[in-house]
Amino acid sequence: MNNVKSILILGLFLFVSVTTTAQPAKGGKKISSDLFGLFFEDINYSADGGLYAEQVQNRSFEYNPTERREWHPFSYWEYISPGFSYGRISVETSTPVHSNNPHYIVLDIEHVGNEAKFTGESGVGLKNSGFDGIVVKAGEKYNFSLFAKQLSDFPIELSVSLQNPKGIVLAAGSVSTSSKDWQKYTATLIATASNDTATLVILAKTNGKLAIDMISLFPEKTFNNRPNGLRADLAQMLADMKPRFIRFPGGCLVHGDGLGNMYRWENTIGPIEQRKEQRNIWGYHQTAGLGYFEYFQFCEDIGAKPLPVLPAAVSCQNSGGTWQIGGTGQRALPLDEMPDYIQEVLDLIEWANGPVTSSWGAKRAAAGHPFPFNLQYVGIGNEDKITPEFEERFTMISKAVKEKHPEITIVGTAGPFHSGEDFDKGWKIANDLNIPVVDEHYYTDPKWFISNQYRYDKYDRTKGEVYLGEYASWGNKMRNAISEAAYMTALERNGDVVRMASYAPLLAKKNYTQWKTDLIFFDNDTICPTPNYFVQKMFSVNQGDYYFDKVITKDEKDNALASSCVQDSKTGDIILKLVNYNETVKPMKVNLNRFGEIATDAQQTVLAGSADAENTFANTKNIVPTSSSVKIKKSFDYSAPAMSLTVIRVKTKN
Ligand code: AHR
Repeated sequence: MNNVKSILILGLFLFVSVTTTAQPAKGGKKISSDLFGLFFEDINYSADGGLYAEQVQNRSFEYNPTERREWHPFSYWEYISPGFSYGRISVETSTPVHSNNPHYIVLDIEHVGNEAKFTGESGVGLKNSGFDGIVVKAGEKYNFSLFAKQLSDFPIELSVSLQNPKGIVLAAGSVSTSSKDWQKYTATLIATASNDTATLVILAKTNGKLAIDMISLFPEKTFNNRPNGLRADLAQMLADMKPRFIRFPGGCLVHGDGLGNMYRWENTIGPIEQRKEQRNIWGYHQTAGLGYFEYFQFCEDIGAKPLPVLPAAVSCQNSGGTWQIGGTGQRALPLDEMPDYIQEVLDLIEWANGPVTSSWGAKRAAAGHPFPFNLQYVGIGNEDKITPEFEERFTMISKAVKEKHPEITIVGTAGPFHSGEDFDKGWKIANDLNIPVVDEHYYTDPKWFISNQYRYDKYDRTKGEVYLGEYASWGNKMRNAISEAAYMTALERNGDVVRMASYAPLLAKKNYTQWKTDLIFFDNDTICPTPNYFVQKMFSVNQGDYYFDKVITKDEKDNALASSCVQDSKTGDIILKLVNYNETVKPMKVNLNRFGEIATDAQQTVLAGSADAENTFANTKNIVPTSSSVKIKKSFDYSAPAMSLTVIRVKTKN
């Protein structure tokens, strides 16, 4: 019996070791297994109106002139009273659903007309056209909800419909109030026809009075069918990249435009009607509907490590537009507020990782996630100006985190440029404090990326590691994408000192773009990936954890040629990346003799095009990679197409 048990255990052990890791070839350098991930910031309408699948714009009547001079609580809503109905409408604040969500609408319906035959319908109510129209697809379900408080002594009947611009009903439902307290009402609308620019119409059908707030509409099909979830097609584009981590929620959104605008994570969890909305530093509104819970859940859903970045208790140095006078606008939290702020940082770790019996762990469990999120990284600060105020606060926060949570890897910050005063000071502070990882940011010319491929080869391996948290070359043409590809081979080569890297920004909505160069453009129904997206994806889905040099040979004097070879110890696969930034075909040679037996059928993916080629909404597929199965030998020649990235994935037989 004992023998049987031992055999079973041995079998299990062999099964586990055979299925989880292969032995990497000798001579490889261990590199980061978290190298390529995503940077997500709510810039360019990336969250509200973008990845966050909410279809109603200004759902809680919190838009206001601090966000845009012309905005007010009724922006993007229209008062309607078809069928010769009449009544009154007001925006009120005296008894809100929650104090974090102060504005709501009161509808006083004096007369519901019965002349629908002239206008098609009757009632007193509201219309919302979403973010440039609501996309409705025939046969799909839409989850409508609102909070209402009946102010009459009798129920108020409300019709809810999705209508095309001509007023034709595409989906219909109704709700009826039943309480004099705020209560949530829901209806499922099933679309009978499609339209890209539909509106949501809510009409009271009973004479009387009621208060309404948090009017929401989600497609039932969100990513992973999550309630309060993400737009499925956009989220899938990100999932397809298989990122090892996601950094969120920014960017400058983190440190905010002045102290009152800093992103405070605690305001973004819990029921959506209780979250604190605020001005988005990029000139619009954040509902916080896509909040910390949703970020963590998305990371978990796609197997990426969460990398939340918290403010270092200072605001953006460009607060109030002071970038125009040299970035002198940084404000610092008063020191007497620091103990509470530090507690807020520590609370995040407890919320993410603490047991359900802890007070913050219990909140996570109440939101539907009893198990810890396994938070490993916490970023403190976003490319802040390195002032004495910053240093003092960063030191206080990082010391407190280290002391209470030595298991957490802190990510520090080193200014907005690849060099200069903030860069040097940021690194010095990080090294003095033994911060394990430091966030570098740079946006620059493609030629800079080509000429600086050896930047990290010179980094001191005894100091902190690098998180290249934001980088991009200026543009979304092939020359930009391929310059980044060349640079990414250098990130792999230096994967022993570069722990993580993420292109920025990630998403940009057509016509709502504050930052010109982005990875994925989209409108309400079309996604336009850039060539840069395909480069990121080709690297991200082909990561390895061992780096091998001297596998690929090429003209070493030509710095427009770059290459790397990694092995993934989970699968044993050898992954070759060959980059040609020249505008002519160039020869390279591959020698795989150091590896054991290899499969002769390899998977080859090529992204190539002229230097100026790009994708547009008119032709979203102008530049796409092509994949094929190719026969290879241990040693072979490769002609790298002009302006191209090639990835060859080779299976080993060990
Ligand atoms: O990625 C866009 C912006 O660039 C980020 O918000 C900021 O951190 C950087 O300056």
